[in-house]
Amino acid sequence: MRFEGKRMAVTGASRGIGAALARQLVGAGATVLAVARDAERLQAMAADLGPGLIPVPCDLADAQARRALIAKLGPVDGLINNAALQIESDYAQVGHDPAADIGREVAVNFEAPLHLGAALLPVLAARPEALIVNVTSALALAPKRSAPVYCATKAGLRNFTTGLRYQAERSCPQVQVVEVVMTLVETGMTTGRGRGKISPNRAAAEVLNGLRRDKRRIWAGKTQTLRVIYRLSPGLAARILRDG
Ligand SMILES: NC(=O)c1ccc[n+]([C@@H]2O[C@H](COP(=O)([O-])OP(=O)(O)OC[C@H]3O[C@@H](n4cnc5c(N)ncnc54)[C@H](OP(=O)(O)O)[C@@H]3O)[C@@H](O)[C@H]2O)c1
Repeated sequence: MRFEGKRMAVTGASRGIGAALARQLVGAGATVLAVARDAERLQAMAADLGPGLIPVPCDLADAQARRALIAKLGPVDGLINNAALQIESDYAQVGHDPAADIGREVAVNFEAPLHLGAALLPVLAARPEALIVNVTSALALAPKRSAPVYCATKAGLRNFTTGLRYQAERSCPQVQVVEVVMTLVETGMTTGRGRGKISPNRAAAEVLNGLRRDKRRIWAGKTQTLRVIYRLSPGLAARILRDG
């Protein structure tokens, strides 16, 4: 995919990896429809980057807001489902009803990419060259103890991405359906934990390089090593990830 002149929707574009992706895509000549809840932050990015970035504020946990978003996005060439949250919970210890937290995490991390991807595939199929990119994690391969819901959403998204790719390959092969297995990155999501983190800019650059080279699965940073370990010994990979 060449990004010049393309209209790309990026969710979770207000901070972290999504903001870096949005900036680099605008730098590469794309128009970015930047989706997140924080409208002020998106406006500040637009003021900085110019007409290449269009703020599209939306709470992706809200099904009605998601439907309105799909209508607002119009004819895009690419969708990057990057928004997510990670809530650490020990259900053996938790003293409150976990339903609200579980609902929000599943809605943003899993339901939103499914709904946006399914609704936009026909739109993308009408473009000469198009992309759906879903950002997962090494934790899609095996979970860590501290955030089982997050890990389950990423495993589900990984599976959905493969299934959607099968459909695109049969019906609209010019639409690439790509999984990014994201490595540990220094963002709000990982504040105070994890070692050997890379910067959001480096993570975004690896994603865009992979997309330029038409990769269907992009293993960012250290996930390359984990991929090899997982192939040789899924049990060892599970033990490494469990305590992460
Ligand atoms: N950081 C890592 O080490 C790491 C590792 C593996 C995978 N990943 C994946 O990489 C992606 C980006 O993560 P990150 O580290 O950049 O996260 P982050 O810095 O916490 O940013 C999360 C983004 O998602 C948006 N978001 C959260 N809830 C939302 C909602 N209800 N509606 C709309 N947008 C919402 C946030 O914007 P608002 O708050 O403005 O809504 C923000 O822009 C995620 O899919 C994450 O699972 C990250």
